[in-house]
Order: sequence, then structure tokens, then C-alpha cells
Amino acid sequence: MDNPIPFFKAPTQPLRNLGDEFNKILKSGILIKGEYNKLFEEKLTEYLNVKNVILVSSGTIGLTYLFRVLNPKKVYMPSFTFGATATTATWSGVDNIKFIDIDSKKWTINIESLETEGIEDNSVIIPVNLFGNPCDFNRIQEIADNSKSKVIYDAAHSLGSSYHSEKVGSQGEAQVFSLSPTKVLTSAEGGIITTNNDDLAEQLRWMVEWGHKGDYNTIIPGLNARMSEVHALIGYESLLIIDQLSDKRHSQVESYKKELNTEYFSFQEIENNSISTFKDFAIVAKSLKSREERDELINHLANKKISVKTYFDPPIHKHDFYKNNNHENLINTESLSDKIICLPVFYSLQDEEILYISKVLNEYFNK
Ligand SMILES: Cc1ncc(COP(=O)(O)O)c(C=O)c1O
Repeated sequence: MDNPIPFFKAPTQPLRNLGDEFNKILKSGILIKGEYNKLFEEKLTEYLNVKNVILVSSGTIGLTYLFRVLNPKKVYMPSFTFGATATTATWSGVDNIKFIDIDSKKWTINIESLETEGIEDNSVIIPVNLFGNPCDFNRIQEIADNSKSKVIYDAAHSLGSSYHSEKVGSQGEAQVFSLSPTKVLTSAEGGIITTNNDDLAEQLRWMVEWGHKGDYNTIIPGLNARMSEVHALIGYESLLIIDQLSDKRHSQVESYKKELNTEYFSFQEIENNSISTFKDFAIVAKSLKSREERDELINHLANKKISVKTYFDPPIHKHDFYKNNNHENLINTESLSDKIICLPVFYSLQDEEILYISKVLNEYFNK
């Protein structure tokens, strides 16, 4: 392969030429709270089949706001996730975070571990739809209801995922999606909060603009989290072609699964009644015994000009900021984070590049 294969490129190539629309925004002088925010919000509400969609400037601010409004004493979350799942809770004043292990096959929060944990009343559980794989919403809701707790989902990876034929987004108290450039659908930067709770939605809307109702009288400590019209335009136009973006991603994952030798590799398990976005496609090489061996393989891939990522290594309970807390029973989390490798998947990735990556990986183990 002559050219290096990057880990990702934002999926903006299939968008139609938006020069006229950009010019229209610039000429209008309406750069916020305009037509594209309205269009994008309406289209998402319909697509996700949820009562309220709140556009924000990032997934991070969406999560921060939710923790701030719900104000729980304790939060339960997986450690096998991006740091923002935890830092947003910490930022909002939550100082009791309990990390729960993941399922060894689905890599989402382990239901049995949640059950045996014994959730304290009035807590928040924040499962993560990891790499787009929907969590078991029904069972998690039961556990939360039994402890008068709320479930919010870190849905950063899962715009376009489905669960029992329903789009991910309407389950739980609220969900937060990310629209950053690594996602299947991007608006360059941005986030979406979804909720069927109208009162919660109203407070979140105030918080998007510093926490006032339009009269400059602060009633809740908000910040500025508005999405610009330019970002909303990119997001809206991407949403119009989301099936095309998703189909491409699925066919790339199918190619990897066809090409990679399953004697050497295993993949994330997606249940029959779920559809993942495959925001990331990850492999676990079965014979790897340690992180060092995994890192040797990554060096080999780098020498072959293939960029990969090790999401999510280190898991959050090993981050310097969180590692001194009392963490236990995170066996699957630790085992997976030592072994995982995420392969390139992005709209403009070529079939021959997938064949090449698969060949390099198969040959590495076929020694
Ligand atoms: C699991 C998870 N949560 C939250 C975020 C934060 O989203 P954003 O980058 O839009 O702030 C990310 C970002 O990729 C993520 O992967």
C-alpha cells in the first residue's frame, strides 16, 4: 500500500455542494438560532421519534448539563468508555462515581454486575452504547426503577443505532449524542440531548443560553452551549443522507468480518434485535497474552502504514485523576482494554484498504 491509511476521516465527502447554503447563512447575518437549527432539530425529532431534541455545542456539554440538573449523590457507569463520561459528572459536582464492569462479549455495562452492586436510591446510572452497540435498555430501566434512580445514556457513538426496531434516543430519562468528526454523522462539532421529559427539556434549553428564559434573569447556572447555524447546516445535510452513511459503515464491517480469520480474532457481539452504528470496529486477537504483545502488533501495523486506536485503554478507573478511588471487580474491563484494537472505518475508506489491513493482520498470526 503506497499511501498511509489514517484511522478516520470525517464523513463529509458524500455531502452535496453546500456553497450556496453557506453563503446564504453568511449573507443573512443570522449565525445562531436560525433556520438550520430549526430544521435540524425538527428532522432529528422525527428521526429519533422522541419528544424533545436539544442541540448543543458538544456531547460533553450535554452530559455536563444533565448531571448538573439531575444532581445525583452517586453515579454508576462503566469504566470502559471515553473519559468524558466521568469528567462531565465530576465537573457537575458529582464526587461519588462507581465503576461497573462490562459484559465480556457485548462490551456494554454488565447487567448482572449492576444487579449485584445494589444501586443506592436516587442515583443516576449512565450506561454507554459502546461503539454504537445499544445497551439492554429494558433490564437497566427495571434496575433503576427499583431504586428510584434515573438512567441517562451516553449515546455519543450511537446516532442511527436501533434497539428492538426503535431508534436509540428515546429510552431512559435522556440520552446524549456526539457529532464530533469521528462519528458516523458529524456537524464538525456538536451534540444532541434527547428526552421525553418536557420539564427536563425546558431546563436544558434555558441552560443552553446561560440559564435564563430570555429575560437575562439567571434561574439555573447555564453556560453558552449554542450550536451555530454553520454546524447545524452540516449536521442537517448529513442527516438527510444518514442511511447512505450507515450502509457504507455496515458494508465495511461486513468486509472486515469476512476477511479476518476468526481463528485469530473475535469481535464485539451485537444482539439480533439490535443495530449498531459501528462508530468503531474493534478486534481482539485471541492469542495475545499481554498489553505489550498488543502494542507490538500495533507497531507492526504502523510499520505497514496502518493507523489504529486502542479505545478505551486505559479504562477510566486507571486514569491518574480517578485511580486512587476504590475500584474492584473490573475484570472484563481490564482484560479487554489490554487487548483491544480499533481498525480504520470511515466513509472514504476503500475496499482494497480493508483487504490490505485484513491480510496484514491474518499474516501476523499465521506464522
Ligand atoms: C463515550 C463518549 N462520551 C462523550 C464524548 C464527548 O463527546 P464530544 O466530543 O461531542 O464532546 C465522546 C467523544 O467522542 C465519547 O466517545
